[in-house]
Amino acid sequence: MPSALEIESVAARSLGATLRSHGFDAEHLDELVEVPRGTRAAGGIALLAHRCEGAGALGTLARLFALSLPVSVDAATAALHPHAVGDLVAAGLLEVRDAQVYATIQIQGFGPYLFASDRAAWYGEPEFVLQFTRSAHRIASAAMFPSSGRVLDLCCGAGMLGVIAADLGAQVVATDLNPRTTMFTRLNAALNGVSIDARIGDGFAAVEGERFDLIVANPPFIISPDTNRMFLTARQPVDGFCRSIAAAAEAHLTESGVCQFLAPWPVVEDEDPEERVRAWFNGFDGDVWVMEHERMDALQYAASFLDGRPEHQDDFGEWIAYYRAHRIEAIVHGLVTMQRSSPTRVRAYTTEPVEHDTPFRDHLASVFAARRRVAVEGRDWLLDAVLVPGEAVSVVYEAPLTPGARERIEVRKGSGIHYRVESDPAVAEFLGACDGQRSLRDIATLMADSRRVPVESMLDGLVAVAEESLYTGVLRAAQPFRAS
Ligand SMILES: C[S@@+](CC[C@H](N)C(=O)[O-])C[C@H]1O[C@@H](n2cnc3c(N)ncnc32)[C@H](O)[C@@H]1O
Repeated sequence: MPSALEIESVAARSLGATLRSHGFDAEHLDELVEVPRGTRAAGGIALLAHRCEGAGALGTLARLFALSLPVSVDAATAALHPHAVGDLVAAGLLEVRDAQVYATIQIQGFGPYLFASDRAAWYGEPEFVLQFTRSAHRIASAAMFPSSGRVLDLCCGAGMLGVIAADLGAQVVATDLNPRTTMFTRLNAALNGVSIDARIGDGFAAVEGERFDLIVANPPFIISPDTNRMFLTARQPVDGFCRSIAAAAEAHLTESGVCQFLAPWPVVEDEDPEERVRAWFNGFDGDVWVMEHERMDALQYAASFLDGRPEHQDDFGEWIAYYRAHRIEAIVHGLVTMQRSSPTRVRAYTTEPVEHDTPFRDHLASVFAARRRVAVEGRDWLLDAVLVPGEAVSVVYEAPLTPGARERIEVRKGSGIHYRVESDPAVAEFLGACDGQRSLRDIATLMADSRRVPVESMLDGLVAVAEESLYTGVLRAAQPFRAS
């Protein structure tokens, strides 16, 4: 692994511009070096290397930084101009062996960003710095990045979440236990034209006494006995590290600050997993939404992490023994969103794996705002609320196939966090009447008149439907809720 990356931030910024000028970005890299489905790894790389051959400077850069393959000195010199190969060797980004140039790091594209990290070949090393993974993508999609204020990228790795936050306007501090992460965080900040205050520290140790508008973390969340690799499993047993993030967050959040992190929790024999997670937030003065997105049997879980990693095949028995010792039957991965806001203390837990757009942060933000509003003002406030359907909401009527059977009605939401639920004619009528003009009380009056029943008999039911619909995003306030 490169021991030091010593590139000046001005030079790194300019390197980012050089790479982009040749089309080295997410869009072109996806086309050029995405392994086609069904292609075995080794054959896949040969195919991609072949594709790069005819792709000029972009092909050279993709071989070097995306595929970790060598290129000739001449090709590297041409593709990296005006950066001299010798300068990049001195900075620790390249190596020259047998007249071939090798990159010591890998660089990938994500949206408008370029992200440097350790080469995949170093995966087994304890201080390996991870690339932008599926989990990073998930938390990046959910994170409610503010357009100003302070953001903490906790357990920052290569600082990629911090780069996004800084690019969107925040002042960013990024911290990690692994000292190698600071050089990657600084490099990534420079490659993307932003600045980040990168620090080393265990948990919140490097930000003692500081508060943030958003704390975002993709922590080492794999439940395993392998605490050797810092990016994988934390040193605290089972879910202890994530529990400690939940416990410490409040002291580092501004008054309505948000903390979001990916977390695991075990399904332990004779224990309710939901209760276990709820207990993490017992002392937290604010709202919490825990959203489960994956649940795996313990054996399958171990296999899925150790598969395809021949150097770790022997670890399987150790992982299984660890689960037995802790009576762990299955493992859940989820997303935690906490928001400080004293009086409400909403606790929500979604056990259905959710389907969602990327990003879905706006949906999360609007659900938090709605929950807070209802909790602060009371449900009766909803009687005067003027509501409209959320984005991409439809009510679908399916005619019965057999004579005499009832029509089937389904309410669907196809954007943000997706949602689908069977409904009934009264709910469908109510949703249809939420036109942004009439209050819930007016709608209830109209519906009661048409049914010739007292309006009071409808109010509770409609308030409950409105409340649930605000939380799923099927309805939203005609006027946006205030931020707090
Ligand atoms: C799964 S990686 C994610 C890195 C990065 N946030 C990302 O999304 O790519 C977890 C990171 O947590 C760091 N880490 C592990 N234990 C830690 C601790 N006790 N305090 C702070 N960081 C820690 C690891 O070094 C690693 O960089």
